[in-house]
Amino acid sequence: MSIISKDISKAVALLTAEDIVAIPTETVYGLAGNIYSEKAIKAIFETKKRPFFNPLIVHIPSIDELSNIVEHIPAKAQLLAEAFWPGPITLVLKKKGIIPDLITGGKDTVAVRVPNHPTTLELLNRLDFPLAAPSANPFSSISPTTAQHVETYFKDAIKMVLDGGACTSGIESTIIGFENDEPMIYRLGSKSLEDIEAIVGTIEIKNSVKSQTEAIPDAPGMLERHYAPKTKTILTTNILESINLHKNKRIGLLTFQSEIDHPNIEVQIALSTSGVLVESASNLYDVLHQLDKMHLDIIIAEEFPDYGLGKSINDRLTRATKH
Ligand code: TXA
Ligand code: MG
Repeated sequence: MSIISKDISKAVALLTAEDIVAIPTETVYGLAGNIYSEKAIKAIFETKKRPFFNPLIVHIPSIDELSNIVEHIPAKAQLLAEAFWPGPITLVLKKKGIIPDLITGGKDTVAVRVPNHPTTLELLNRLDFPLAAPSANPFSSISPTTAQHVETYFKDAIKMVLDGGACTSGIESTIIGFENDEPMIYRLGSKSLEDIEAIVGTIEIKNSVKSQTEAIPDAPGMLERHYAPKTKTILTTNILESINLHKNKRIGLLTFQSEIDHPNIEVQIALSTSGVLVESASNLYDVLHQLDKMHLDIIIAEEFPDYGLGKSINDRLTRATKH
């Protein structure tokens, strides 16, 4: 029997009983549990096979609950939360004592966001505790953007996926940390750098994959190899050259908008034939899931324009190439 269901009351009952449930958000599906239940939080880490030092994001129903979770809200954090919540930014702030160390990997900060999905907002409003939720995929695999993706990963390990349809944003939230009350980007994501800078001015990217040689202590989950298909994947600015280099292989091609006419391509998918970056972001993981199922020898991905969500897409594609 399928574990996929739209029954919010059933999710409330399971979560209240310290069980874990996969939940929809606008970015990707999360694997959720009560932040105050050691049993639930341990089950999240075990189900994902995620190391305990890699902290979880706390999901709350509204900005009003932020002060229950964190010690101090810098002025620019307040501005960002007011501008973008509910929505795909996560703020990393000094935690209150009540937040368990298991959630934060022993750090004195906690990551928090208000997700923008009607089903999950209703769920959070009906619960009397926040939900910790990492993306609902095994550690370092492609994140899930449909209930079916989650079911394929975890059907024997969890009791329920709360179905909220396909995720509209399609890549994870943008994570923003604070040092001396000044914001910096820990992870590029569904809210573009330009949108964030319009609120708080120029902002440093702390954790660009291009400059990264090892896990950064400030964002312990940002390991280089992440979001990776099982199929070998390369990122290129010159599609034809890359195809010619891999002539005798079964090639899957992932492009921004163009279609390439070439006899060596087994399958090709453009993320947005009309060249829209937000549409590309929302399709990215589903297309990677599709290509990864086809037993190709190689996925050749085209580098995206380096602005707006193109930057975030390039970040994920770069991580997908690390094997
Ligand atoms: O869009 C999203 O953010 C999704 C949905 C489900 O909300 N969640 C998500 O969670 O992507 P996850 O666990 O896959 O990635 C969260 C990342 C961690 O890998 C870690 O780098 C960072 O958040 N993080 C969490 N707590 C942190 C902290 N206290 N300091 C620095 N980074 C933290
Ligand atoms: Mg993840």
